[in-house]
Amino acid sequence: MIPEGDVGSSKLIVKQIPVGKMANFVYLVVEEESREAMVVDSGWETEPIEEAVRLTGAKVKFAVASHEHFDHVLTLRKLADNLGARVVAHESSPIDCDERVADGEELGLGDSKVQVLHTPGHTEDSICLYDGREVFTGDTLFVGTIGKFDRVRAEAIYRSLHEVILKLPGQTVMYPGHDYGSVTFRSLREEKEANPFLMTRDLRDFLAFFS
Ligand SMILES: [Fe+2]
Repeated sequence: MIPEGDVGSSKLIVKQIPVGKMANFVYLVVEEESREAMVVDSGWETEPIEEAVRLTGAKVKFAVASHEHFDHVLTLRKLADNLGARVVAHESSPIDCDERVADGEELGLGDSKVQVLHTPGHTEDSICLYDGREVFTGDTLFVGTIGKFDRVRAEAIYRSLHEVILKLPGQTVMYPGHDYGSVTFRSLREEKEANPFLMTRDLRDFLAFFS
């Protein structure tokens, strides 16, 4: 679905946490007043995330999988159990979860809402999470590059990038699932001006990029 521009509020605190040996980023997103929170991915280890939860006084409701790959969900069940949270994944995901969500569904944190955007391409179950100010892009979009994909999903990732993520306001801050870039986050406007995979004019142009 086309993302809406007024989903969340500015009351969410974002902690970007590096984990593991593949330069993963996981995220702790805490609603300022209620302290209700979600974690996006868990990567290889739970300790740095649990420490951030302790320091912020967060009450984690959701442990969300950006997609099925092991480097993102290896410890997600353990983390959710330790924190008393529910594992959430896209309805097409093969992972063990408590709640399956569809495109456009919202996760509530206090008075704020985070919208699920289905962005297939890197995997079928890839989702981005948009809170009205930030978008957590998993392995769909990185700083300066995009996630790997099978040829059969080329059109899907093109549409996810151009018809979903880039429809968000340019000032939206994108937070990727890996530390692959020159900076660890930046606005979609900056990304669009610097990422060669976002500069293709149309699907044909995009496909030619990979041939
Ligand atoms: Fe991945």
